[in-house]
Amino acid sequence: MSGKLVAWDVQESDFPSSGTLSDQLNFLLRYGILAPSGPNTQPWKLSIKGNEVSLIADFTRSLPNVDPNDRTLYISHGCLLANILLGAEHFGLGYNVKCLPDGQYGDRTAVVQFSDISNSVTEPRFPDLFKEITKRHTNRKRYEEAAIEDEKLKELKSSVNREGFRLDIITDKEVKSAMANILSRAHKIQLGNKAFRKELASWVRPNTSDAKDGLPGYAFGYSDFESFFGSFIFGTFDMSSSRARIETSFMIASPAVAVLSTESDDKLTWIKTGVLFEILFLTATRLNVMFDLFSQPVGIPDLRQEMAQILNAKYPQILIRMGYAEPAKHTPRRPVEEVLIS
Ligand SMILES: Cc1cc2nc3c(=O)[nH]c(=O)nc-3n(C[C@H](O)[C@H](O)[C@H](O)COP(=O)(O)O)c2cc1C
Repeated sequence: MSGKLVAWDVQESDFPSSGTLSDQLNFLLRYGILAPSGPNTQPWKLSIKGNEVSLIADFTRSLPNVDPNDRTLYISHGCLLANILLGAEHFGLGYNVKCLPDGQYGDRTAVVQFSDISNSVTEPRFPDLFKEITKRHTNRKRYEEAAIEDEKLKELKSSVNREGFRLDIITDKEVKSAMANILSRAHKIQLGNKAFRKELASWVRPNTSDAKDGLPGYAFGYSDFESFFGSFIFGTFDMSSSRARIETSFMIASPAVAVLSTESDDKLTWIKTGVLFEILFLTATRLNVMFDLFSQPVGIPDLRQEMAQILNAKYPQILIRMGYAEPAKHTPRRPVEEVLIS
């Protein structure tokens, strides 16, 4: 694998089972950093101190125009946390988690205290989805029309069956079209806004770039040539109509659309949403169901309200397109050494 993708080449058999706890925690973080994050900003720093791992928000990577309340940033931290905990359970390390250990305004989103294998109580709290971490990816291709089997839909739904959360899976054509219409309007509002567009474009990279963050053009299906101009064109011109057209047609043609919603809407809820969302995403990966994600409509209060009304839900957090397609290529990651602080 090339330099920017090398983080994905992590082998379970390299777990330092006879190493120190610090070596083992360092290894777990290699799975943590494979988590998804809104435009792959990887807005995190990590620290290991004794038996504690801290997840720290890197606000230098926040998106004031795209994600003004840092909602997506906190959800991404939840995904990071889920991967670390799945790794701990897989290798038999006991743990305790405290979210927002320094309160609402602290930079730490979570601290995990570990106990080593020899004196761990390893009651698993999650299904064993560890092996899916290196396979999971966002897939923006057009999906096949083939329906997703009912048993799979049930399994996806039950993977997030926790109080305060709900997953609506929509297969009805009219409701899917209503969601696609909301997505289209969100695109027109947001991509029509120059500051929004420029901020998002600053995370779009040529395919050949060595950058270990952001979105290479191939994630959107751009050739090497197209990707070279992708960021410039995307940031300079209002492409909202064409982007909206592609994404809504893909959405309507997909066998299912889903919305993950919550009962409350604060930083703690966003972190927990991220944990559950990653469990959902990894469950889908195990079932071979692809996901494409849309935060746009949730970022506009009126459209979010409209989604909530259609679903009779309280706070929609993320819109998902689901279906079958050939796997897509992974996106880059910064290695643990780049995000670990002492
Ligand atoms: C909370 C959250 C919101 C996201 N929102 C979008 C989105 O609106 N549009 C999109 O194309 N991708 C979205 N993504 C997907 C990310 O761009 C993707 O996870 C990231 O580029 C890493 O790629 P990977 O998922 O293939 O590992 C989102 C991801 C997360 C975690």
